[in-house]
Amino acid sequence: MTESNAIDALQWENRRFPPSEAFKTDTLVAGTFMYDEADADFEGFWARQAAELLDWSTPWQQVLDWDLPFAKWFVGGQLNVSYNCLDRHVLAGRGDKVAILWEGEPGDTRAVTYAELLDETQRFANVLKSLGVGKGDRVNIYLPMIPEAAIAMLACARIGAVHSVVFGGFAAHSLRDRINDAEAKVLITADGGHRRGDVFALKPVADEAVASTPGVTSVVVVRRGGNDVKMVDGRDHWYHDLMAAADPICPPDPMDAEQLLFLLYTSGTTGKPKGIMHTSGGYLTQVAFTHKYVFDLHPETDIFWCTADVGWITGHSYIVYGPLANGATQVMYEGVPNYPDNDRMWSIIEKYKVTLFYTAPTAIRTFMKWGRQEPDKHDLSSLRLLGSVGEPINPEAWMWYHEHIGGGRCPIVDTWWQTETGAIMISPLPGATTTKPGSATFALPGIGTELVDEEGRAVARGGGYLTLTRPWPAMLRGIWGDPERYRDTYWSRFEGRYFAGDGAKLDDDGYLWLLGRVDDVMNVSGHRISTTEVESALVAHPAVAEAAVVGANDPTTGQAIIAYVTLRSGAEVDEQDLRTFVGNEIGSIAKPKMIYFTPDLPKTRSGKIMRRLLRDVAEGRNLGDTSTLADASVVSELQRRAADAPHDD
Ligand code: WT7
Repeated sequence: MTESNAIDALQWENRRFPPSEAFKTDTLVAGTFMYDEADADFEGFWARQAAELLDWSTPWQQVLDWDLPFAKWFVGGQLNVSYNCLDRHVLAGRGDKVAILWEGEPGDTRAVTYAELLDETQRFANVLKSLGVGKGDRVNIYLPMIPEAAIAMLACARIGAVHSVVFGGFAAHSLRDRINDAEAKVLITADGGHRRGDVFALKPVADEAVASTPGVTSVVVVRRGGNDVKMVDGRDHWYHDLMAAADPICPPDPMDAEQLLFLLYTSGTTGKPKGIMHTSGGYLTQVAFTHKYVFDLHPETDIFWCTADVGWITGHSYIVYGPLANGATQVMYEGVPNYPDNDRMWSIIEKYKVTLFYTAPTAIRTFMKWGRQEPDKHDLSSLRLLGSVGEPINPEAWMWYHEHIGGGRCPIVDTWWQTETGAIMISPLPGATTTKPGSATFALPGIGTELVDEEGRAVARGGGYLTLTRPWPAMLRGIWGDPERYRDTYWSRFEGRYFAGDGAKLDDDGYLWLLGRVDDVMNVSGHRISTTEVESALVAHPAVAEAAVVGANDPTTGQAIIAYVTLRSGAEVDEQDLRTFVGNEIGSIAKPKMIYFTPDLPKTRSGKIMRRLLRDVAEGRNLGDTSTLADASVVSELQRRAADAPHDD
């Protein structure tokens, strides 16, 4: 093992938060027994989880068939995913339990029980059959955050159809490309949904897409927005009409464990979107396992809330499949966090007495920008655990979350995973792990991670490339229609390993600290500096809410560090002082050469900062593809500021 300089590690964090005695009294896992068991026999460990957490109609003959890079889990086993998410809870007498506490953005609400969800799912499964959908056929889903999104997904699972959910914020051409790549037969959409106080129309976007998707024979339209839409005779059908006429009974057919459950497209930074393939038995095992143990789920008393959209993997795994497989009660919210006011999230937590809250660092930093007076308006004492996903969480954002949302008493689980991994891979177990602000801590039981240097040698301390050393049940099974791209993208950089594309560092105690995508690592005078560390140092300043850092070409240093900074509401700081502050925090090599102050940062619709665009701005280039940007005006404003700023070359 080596001390590596593949990526420089500049910042070391020493605050520690062991699980509190109060939390430990009723936690599912205290101590290391689960890690010990999984270390001794990881296949046996996953087999025990699959047997304990799920109902199988036929037992498997082989736990794992591993022909690198192709894995099959629970070979020969059969189960029905929708049966596991619905029927078995109803059969056990929990039909009246609320599955989804739904809140529309305008304030309308629905409480959907497990029995109702099962009823709607069966009917909609029959609707799909009547539209000619059979096992293995692809169905596209393009919906707002309404219970029908979960119903549509579960109905597909019930009959072995493959869903491909496209986030409702995507434009017609993105929807069209995804429909065509999957060769979907049916599209399920809505008239529109509610967002930021308005109705946004979905059906016209779907119409534009379907104009060039020859394979789509039927479009099902849920009424939600109430906006006028054109219905095409013979092709388009109202959801409520089809449901009223549908047979209420659709028995759950057993499916092979490796039956394709869904495709989910990831755009990546370049190239055409990849249809990530997830199958049934292994996927459901790991999402149920992680949802139960990472969130310490007590299904009788907990109210879970994951703020993601069902259009992302987080919504698939921790709104639909994980919580429902575990029989949980959860909140589902349709709209934005600042409608009608900046305290909407906190008012929802208070209203439904949410106990487990799972959101993204980008949201947390936005809440910081809006100020602590927003959560302070509400009683958040129901919360007992907080989660984070999507990006590295900066230590100061972690502390703010801990203090102002968690009231200093809630453990925080920083969960690292990807669309491709299907389920959480690196995270604390909240009753067992001492956390450090900003660290995702350790691989979960059953998961193998190793940090390596350029040559693939294990790194014991310092920065390196994060790899996964063995297959896991929820792993992607491939890229739809492109097995070679699957091998090249994930399994070729380091022999015999999955390379996640992320950098990370290990501290003296073996804690993992994620450093962002390795494509974002900057090279400043030969030092390999991660954007994450400089951003964290900037956010550590009390005036700063959010920061994005990029390396721009520089004639003297190779790359120069350029920072874009958003201040907390009402705060002020001088550029020079902020540079000095960063120098003191993590060293003068990491001081930004330029700092631009900006009210907003360019982000993708899933909330990731678009560093590629910021590099274009910093290097004075014309912007490349901006179609994945959530709010295009942010970038034109930045360009204006960059053009106004003094340049020294
Ligand atoms: C990438 C995957 C996983 C669901 C949401 C995103 C980054 C994700 C963390 C975390 C640091 C994280 C990684 C990863 N990421 N979670 N806790 N700490 N980075 O899914 O769109 O497939 O993105 O998100 O860079 O590779 P995704």
